[in-house]
Amino acid sequence: MYEQVSHSLLDKILDELKPDIRKRDLRHFYTRLGANFYAIYSLFHHLYGARDDFEHKMLKLVEVMANQYIVREPALKRSDIMRERDHHWFLRQDWVGMALYSDGFNENLNGLRKNLPYLQELGVNMVHVMPILECPKGASDGGYAVSNFRDVDERIGTLDDLRKLARHMRKRDMLLTLDVVVNHTSDEHPWAMQAKVGNARYQEYYYTYHDRDVPDMFEQTMPEIFPETSPGNFTYSDEMQRWVMTVFNSYQWDLNYSNPDVFIEMLDVILFWANQGADIVRLDAVAFLWKKIGTVCQNEREAHLILQLMKDCCQVTSPGVLFIAEAIVAPVEVTKYFGEDAINAKECEIAYNATYMALLWDAVATKNAKLLNQGIRSLPDKLDGATWLNYVRCHDDIGLGFDDADIAQAGYEPKAHRRFLIDYLTGKFPGSPARGEPFGINEKTGDARVSGTLAALAGLESAIESGDEQSIQRSIDLILLLHSMVMAFGGIPLLYYGDEIGTLNSHAYEDDPGKVGDNRWLHRPQIDWDKAAKRKEHGSIEQRIFDGIKQQIAVRKHTPSFSDFNNRELLDTGNEHVFGFVRTSPLPGGDPVIVIGNFDAKPQSVPLQALGHYYKPGQSVYEDLCGSVIPQIEGDELELPAHGFHWLTDRGLTHF
Ligand code: GLC
Ligand code: GLC
Repeated sequence: MYEQVSHSLLDKILDELKPDIRKRDLRHFYTRLGANFYAIYSLFHHLYGARDDFEHKMLKLVEVMANQYIVREPALKRSDIMRERDHHWFLRQDWVGMALYSDGFNENLNGLRKNLPYLQELGVNMVHVMPILECPKGASDGGYAVSNFRDVDERIGTLDDLRKLARHMRKRDMLLTLDVVVNHTSDEHPWAMQAKVGNARYQEYYYTYHDRDVPDMFEQTMPEIFPETSPGNFTYSDEMQRWVMTVFNSYQWDLNYSNPDVFIEMLDVILFWANQGADIVRLDAVAFLWKKIGTVCQNEREAHLILQLMKDCCQVTSPGVLFIAEAIVAPVEVTKYFGEDAINAKECEIAYNATYMALLWDAVATKNAKLLNQGIRSLPDKLDGATWLNYVRCHDDIGLGFDDADIAQAGYEPKAHRRFLIDYLTGKFPGSPARGEPFGINEKTGDARVSGTLAALAGLESAIESGDEQSIQRSIDLILLLHSMVMAFGGIPLLYYGDEIGTLNSHAYEDDPGKVGDNRWLHRPQIDWDKAAKRKEHGSIEQRIFDGIKQQIAVRKHTPSFSDFNNRELLDTGNEHVFGFVRTSPLPGGDPVIVIGNFDAKPQSVPLQALGHYYKPGQSVYEDLCGSVIPQIEGDELELPAHGFHWLTDRGLTHF
C-alpha cells in the first residue's frame, strides 16, 4: 500500500543510514523493506508514536534490520528465497518434531550433533533444542532465565558448536528450533545489573516501582503463575531498593515493551539467532508481553501488535524463519496468535495446541471422548497459512486449559471435573494407574496442574512395578494411541525426548538446590542410552514404543492428507469412547483418511454409518495404514481394541 507519510519517512531514513550500510548491495533487503514498511511504520507508530524521539527510534530499528541482513550467511539467504517461493512448505506432512534439552539428551550440543542419527532413525526432522543461552549457575528455570542473549551457556557448548550443529542439521534436512525468551531476563542479566546499581536507563527496561502502590493495583487482577514457589507478581530488590515485576520466578524480571529500546534490543536478539541458523524461533510466554493495570496482563492487544511488528521486521531480514507462539491460553485466545483478519499468519506461523493436548488427557482420564469432541468443535478456525504444534507432553506441566462451558456442555460439573482430572492424573483417584504429581497448586483459587512423564501418566510406571504384562501392554497402547492422535490431527507433531522409549519419572532433581521445589524436573530426563539401546531388542518395552512411533511417523510422511490445509472434519462416531475425524485430501482425487481412536480400556465398536459419506455402502475392506489388519468388516460395526486406533483408507495407499 502506498502511503505518503510512511513513504517520506522511509526516504528520510534511507538517506540517514550510515555509509557502511548504504554502500552494500541490499537489493532483496530494500524490496522487502519497501513491501513491509507501511505495516512496520504503522505498528511502531501505534506503540511508540507519541514519543518525541519516534523518528530516531524508527531509524534505529531499520539499522538493526539492515545490519543483521548484511551479516546473514549466503546459504541462509538462499534458503529465505526458496521458502518465499514455496511459502507453504511447513504445512506439509513431512515434518515431525522433538523437543529436548541437549544436556539431558546427550551431554551438550556436540553430543546432540553426534546423536542426530538416532533422531533420524525415528523419523524426527525438526528439533527444538530447549534453552541454550547463558544463565545463572543456580536456579534458572531450565534456562528460561537468560543472563546473556548472545552466547551459549558454557555447560552446553559454544556458539561455534551451535553453528556446527545448525550446519549438520541443514545437510540432513532437519530444522533447528531455538528459544528466544522475549518476556523476561534473569536478574543477573547486565540490564538488570545496571538497573540494580541505579542506572535509570536500564530501570526503564523493566517495570520497577519505589513503593507498593502500582504493584498492588496490578496484583488485584493478575493471576499467579507459580503460586507455591513464587507467589505474587513483584519482588523487592534490596540492591535496587525498588519493586520489580516478576510474573514467573522472582529471579525472572519482566521486560517493559512500552519502551521502544526494549523492542529494538529484542528484535536484534531474534535476528541474531535467526542468523546463527535457527529455522524456527520459539517465542516464549508471548501472551505476557504487555501489562496493563486492571487486566490479567495476558493476551492484551498490544502483545499482538508487538508480535506482528516482530514478524514484519523478521520478514525483511530473514523471511524464511518461522515463529512459534508459546501461548498457553484459553482456546478462544490462542488462535489470535496467528494474527486476526488475515489469510497467512501475520504474527506467528505456528502455535502450541495446548487445548488439544489437555483435551487428550481428559479423554485418557475419563476413558471417554465427549469433552475432547466438544472442545475441538469449539476451537476457533485457524488461518490457512498457519499450523499447530500438536503434542502430548512437553517440558512444562499440563494445565487443564479448556473452557468451563465446554466441560458443562459435555455433561460434567466444571469444578468437580477438574478436581477429578487432577486426582486421576496424580494417581489419587481409586484405580488410577497414573503417577503424575500436582504442580502449581493455588490454595486461593483451587487451581492445580500436573507434572510427570508420558509413561508415568499413561500408567506404564505403575504397570512395570506391578510386573503385570497386560497392564504394561495397555499403557504402551495408550502411549501409541496418544501419539497417533497428534500425528494425524493436522499440524506438526512435537514429540518429547524420552517418550519414544517410555522414560519414567526421575527424582534426581530433588538433590539439586536449583531444581528442588519445581517438579517439572520429574519429566526433564537424562536419556539412559542403555535403555535406548533396548529399542533393538524385539519385544522389549522400548522396542514396542519406539517402533510403534517410528511406523506412525513413516506413514504420516507418505500420507498427503496429513498435511495441514484445514482439511479435517470431526466425525460423530456414535460411541462416546471413540474420537474420530477425517483428513480429506488437499489435492483433488487424493485419498481421505479416517482416524479413529478408542480411549476406553475395553474394546469398543463404531457403527459403520458413523463414517458418514466416507463409508461407501457395500464396501467391505478398509486398509489400516498402520498395519493392524482390518478383517473383512462383518455386519455394520467396526471393532476397536482397548486403546486401539486406526488410520483407515478405502484404498491401499501403502502397505506396512
Ligand atoms: C515458558 C516455558 C516455561 C517457563 C516460562 C517462563 O512458559 O515453557 O518452562 O517456566 O516460560 O520462562
Ligand atoms: C503458565 C504459562 C505458560 C508456562 C507455564 C509454566 O501456564 O501460561 O506460559 O509455560 O505456566 O508452568
